[in-house]
Amino acid sequence: MHGGRAADEAALFWEDRYRRHGRLWKGTPNPLLAETAERLAPGRALDLGCGEGGDAAWLAARGWQVTAVDIAPAALELTAEHAARAGVADRVTTELHDLARGFPSGSFELVSAQYLQTPFDLPRERVLRRAAHALAPGGLLLVVEHGSRHPWSSVDPDTRFPTPEEIYAGIGLDPAGWTPERLDTPRREATGPGGRTAVVTDTVIAVRRAA
Ligand SMILES: C[S@@+](CC[C@H](N)C(=O)[O-])C[C@H]1O[C@@H](n2cnc3c(N)ncnc32)[C@H](O)[C@@H]1O
Repeated sequence: MHGGRAADEAALFWEDRYRRHGRLWKGTPNPLLAETAERLAPGRALDLGCGEGGDAAWLAARGWQVTAVDIAPAALELTAEHAARAGVADRVTTELHDLARGFPSGSFELVSAQYLQTPFDLPRERVLRRAAHALAPGGLLLVVEHGSRHPWSSVDPDTRFPTPEEIYAGIGLDPAGWTPERLDTPRREATGPGGRTAVVTDTVIAVRRAA
């Protein structure tokens, strides 16, 4: 359920977060996106839940034409600022969408959802199914989620994180049209408030649409 009131609360929550904290981005893209996109020829990219726009600006600097989507207008402003600062404003378009209720139009060689996680209801499987259908033939969907709880996180310590296989099965894609290329849970060192570090797990799902 993601009705009007809950949807408004979600938008206000994220808007407030970006307005209060401003720019936090450290200047590098999400590592699993960078590692994946480095091997791809640039084309049209869709960044779902773009946040401050670090990934969008990085992709655009590598020649991608990026559509960056978020529920929070303040996130889109930060994304546009990043793109302008990186000299790639002409390659980044921002679009305001609540992905629980709508989805951008278009067809993309890369659709990226990096930590598209929220304390509010988000019909993840439906969003990811639409993302897979938004791929151009031969295109790649890359989903990266937190697969463990950061020690400094407010997430319930009893949270069970779904496996990449469970998430992929839930998307419900026709095996004739889409192939999972990576279902994985790599570990990395994360840095939290005050420079504190911890080893955390990411959940990675990379899906290729048939050419
Ligand atoms: C955890 S942040 C990740 C941001 C960015 N992808 C990154 O890796 O830094 C989640 C992002 O998803 C956005 N978001 C949350 N719910 C959304 C929704 N229903 N529709 C669109 N964006 C949403 C938030 O505003 C936020 O920017």
